[in-house]
Amino acid sequence: MSNATLKVAEVLSVEGNDTRALITTDGMMVEHEGRPRRLGQLGTYVALPIDDVRLIGYVTGVARRDPASAGAPPQHVMSLQLLGTIREDWFDRGVDSYPTVGDPVHLATREDFQVIFGTIDQIAGTARYPRSFRIGRFAMDPDFDVHVLGKEFFSKHIAIVGNSGSGKSCTTAKIIQEITELDQSQIIMFDLHGEYAAAFSDEDGSIDANVTYLGERDLILPYWLLQYQELETMLVDHANPKYVTNQIAFLKTALQELKGETAEALDLTSEFSLDTPIYWSLDRLKVYAENMNDARYVLNSDQLALSKLALRSLDPAEQHELITTQRVQFNKGAAEGEVPHPQYYGQLQGMLTRLETRLNDRRYDFMLRPIRHAKGSRYFKDALKFSGTPTELSQAMSHLIRLLTGQWETRSNLTIVDMSGVPYEIVDIVVAVLTRTLFEYNFWCPLEQRHPMLLVYEEAHNYISRLVKEQRRTDQRSFARHIVERVAKEGRKYGVSAMVISQRPSELSETVVSQCNSMVVMRLNNPEDQNYIAKVVSDQFGSQMAMLPSLRPGEGFVLGDAVLMPMRTLVELPARTPRSADVDFFKHWSLGTETGDIDDILQHWWRQDRGLLNAQLALGAAAKGWTDEPEPGAEPAGVFPEED
Ligand SMILES: Nc1ncnc2c1ncn2[C@@H]1O[C@H](COP(=O)(O)OP(=O)(O)OP(=O)(O)O)[C@@H](O)[C@H]1O
Ligand SMILES: [Mg+2]
Repeated sequence: MSNATLKVAEVLSVEGNDTRALITTDGMMVEHEGRPRRLGQLGTYVALPIDDVRLIGYVTGVARRDPASAGAPPQHVMSLQLLGTIREDWFDRGVDSYPTVGDPVHLATREDFQVIFGTIDQIAGTARYPRSFRIGRFAMDPDFDVHVLGKEFFSKHIAIVGNSGSGKSCTTAKIIQEITELDQSQIIMFDLHGEYAAAFSDEDGSIDANVTYLGERDLILPYWLLQYQELETMLVDHANPKYVTNQIAFLKTALQELKGETAEALDLTSEFSLDTPIYWSLDRLKVYAENMNDARYVLNSDQLALSKLALRSLDPAEQHELITTQRVQFNKGAAEGEVPHPQYYGQLQGMLTRLETRLNDRRYDFMLRPIRHAKGSRYFKDALKFSGTPTELSQAMSHLIRLLTGQWETRSNLTIVDMSGVPYEIVDIVVAVLTRTLFEYNFWCPLEQRHPMLLVYEEAHNYISRLVKEQRRTDQRSFARHIVERVAKEGRKYGVSAMVISQRPSELSETVVSQCNSMVVMRLNNPEDQNYIAKVVSDQFGSQMAMLPSLRPGEGFVLGDAVLMPMRTLVELPARTPRSADVDFFKHWSLGTETGDIDDILQHWWRQDRGLLNAQLALGAAAKGWTDEPEPGAEPAGVFPEED
């Protein structure tokens, strides 16, 4: 027997997916291809020659068996998972002829791997365009590169899961760096912690030319893009159930009226709904609500009991116009012949307080004061102006779409939406609105103009979470989950793919995870997460879950149609890495940290001004001072020059 096809075992039983083989060598160590090998080691590969094919199997377990007769040496039995078939120089996933008892089991050879890896190269072929990309090296034999088929990987949603620190963000950055090499690739990334600017900027912190970075200054998401339910969640005060119904009634009526005016200008009167993303004025909503909260009527009439006598005699339509456009005073005191508004008087206060709190919070400016905030945004300052007509303001949506889909002045392949400055309670709404905007855009796009896009959701368990029973009962809304589930179910038809990244896959929406046809599963210790993944991935992989806790940072299994078999892969570090969240406590505690000016920090805190932080977040170089070796003399520099 040649060493290259070393027989190590014989098939003992074949039951469904589980094949067992009795080890037939003298010991558990053998020499194979010039290297000592330990037999039965989890994750190693075997080959079963049957007729003119070789079945490739994977060791999923090994056990000791009592010898048949007393005094004989103990026996060892390996459990195998059959992965695919080599026929001449071609590897196919799956098995069509099964082994039988007594068939020999060999260790897989280099030639076997050459065929397996060569098959992907042949499939990728020499087409007019690249069909695959390289993600890293094969963990069992680093001489082989792991290539992933692009069409299969991106057309049916992707999940990247693993413990914190297992290398998900680096893997994501590596994949995106690979695909941004394609001239026309289109990726929109929801970057929850502002990690990715560092992976897509140069040494000086300037963002790459083919990347659009929407940081705190540039991201504008006008409130009029929100659907009714999202606005209701933001504005209605649910603390006092007595007032909720009336607040909702007011919000609906007011929006209908305010949007109606724009709809008329846009010739949409019969088509618009509370969800149509057209301009309406939040300032007017506020004034209207303040007025209605104070509103009193003249008894048995439609006349408002306004304090100015001249206004009291206006006809009801004129009075209505007045109260929706400016603050008015009502008669104070319990004058006879006057009654407070039965639905709204004193009942809208909770809503007004909520609105005011948010309007006073700078972090909401990008949404609630979009025109003011746009002055500082390079992309929106010409599109959103106080002088803009409702029609012009409604059209700001096309700017947003152009920006997100890389169709700005120069073509960009990746848009990073840095959400680190977005208040936590509206992350859900922001992700929902942007996802919906992109999905609807492709939905309405004529087929021949539809350009495929990949939406990347970092830390997805935070906003694409699984509904647990208690939440169902309390009717907790999750707008992002709802729309991303829609993308997961229908996105494929419209060229919208999702990539979800999470350290807690068991907390992710089942609908989304079960639609992920490709996965990169990295180190994963939590049994709940392992079981959840085992449930959704193919049987082929279920038995390999036991190996997940032992993976190194950056090591993971690539699963799905884009690879020929589950590929244990050493993912290559991206050329530039995302800003890692790992802080070296011991280094800082030993060497110290530059002391900040507490008063200065307080100033930023009070003003909610994250300018300083964002400059650092966007800068790999500056961020290094916190996570890696400090660069002597390196000064954090702003990414974009301050504007007036
Ligand atoms: N492919 C790789 N090769 C070598 N080391 C890696 C690789 N990927 C990640 N690492 C190491 O692991 C560290 C953590 O990686 P990363 O930030 O990608 O983890 P993560 O899974 O995204 O963590 P978190 O859940 O906290 O965001 C990196 O700083 C790096 O040192
Ligand atoms: Mg990460």
